[in-house]
Amino acid sequence: MYFPAYRPRRLRKSADIRELVSETRLSVKDFIYPMFVMPGKNKKVQVKSMPGIFKQSIDNIIKEMREVRKLGVKSVLLFGIPEKKDKMGTQGYHAEGIVQKALREIKKKVPDMIVVTDVCMCEYTNHGHCGIIKNGDVDNDETVEYLAKMALSHAEAGADIVAPSDMMDGRVGVIRDVLDESGFENLPIMAYSAKYASAFYGPFREAAESPPKFGDRRSYQMDPPNVREAMREIALDIEEGADIVMIKPALPYLDVIRAARDKFDHPLAAYNVSGEYSMVKAAGKLGWIEEERVMMESLMSIKRAGADIIITYFAKEAAKLLNSGK
Ligand code: PBG
Repeated sequence: MYFPAYRPRRLRKSADIRELVSETRLSVKDFIYPMFVMPGKNKKVQVKSMPGIFKQSIDNIIKEMREVRKLGVKSVLLFGIPEKKDKMGTQGYHAEGIVQKALREIKKKVPDMIVVTDVCMCEYTNHGHCGIIKNGDVDNDETVEYLAKMALSHAEAGADIVAPSDMMDGRVGVIRDVLDESGFENLPIMAYSAKYASAFYGPFREAAESPPKFGDRRSYQMDPPNVREAMREIALDIEEGADIVMIKPALPYLDVIRAARDKFDHPLAAYNVSGEYSMVKAAGKLGWIEEERVMMESLMSIKRAGADIIITYFAKEAAKLLNSGK
């Protein structure tokens, strides 16, 4: 049927009609909100390049979590900034590490929050790489053992989901085995399966104080031109026991999200990373874009590309808008 019998504009006439025929719906239930916990009491430090995002002590993070939960966002992704960093990232898997302590408190005070923990060594190593260094590069197999220790310590402290973001080969399988051996066979793994070596992580590294002191992450994170390789990474993680798979970053990799959605049935997450957030905030502040609309359009595009779950620093702001019915 063609014009004039068919007129696509008929279904664009009013906001209510557009809503009726909308193919993609964004919901507060889609969101996971990333948060940064640091040692101390009553600490709240603004991340300079991420307006509205803070590193905070456990007491303050719990306050914000209550607020997040009230907005209808039921999951957070927790990152830790340790008191001290060392070569082996020991604070990452210590029972008294910052994330482990925070988890125990959060589980007492905000028990209905789903807490996903980032499992990676870069926040805890003094060289800033995501694992143990040998001969100038991250040693895969040794690092995997440490990651499994870290995942187990998070599980013991009360994590609801563990999310390895290191990009070592074989880590999902080893983490699964270690969790299973310790009675955590029901704890899901959300694997950062296709995580690219991206410049969009810049603001996060300021927040986590984790830029690598030498070299870069290209020997373990994925090369941006590759999409078929992303499918192999996802297939491997699923084979090894991942329950949720993730693509990261989101906006520059919407094609990867779509390809993954078409090929795999597992729940699919996309991480709308720090740089994607900062760009919108910066242009909004300058008055160069309409910040709210750009935010919602970006989140919608991630959903439309096929993501079930969106990890985003915009979660609170977007939730407020969605709750207001706009
Ligand atoms: C690694 C990790 C990073 C992010 C999440 N987990 C940084 C990196 O790989 O350098 C980036 C998140 C963001 O940019 O918002 N632990």
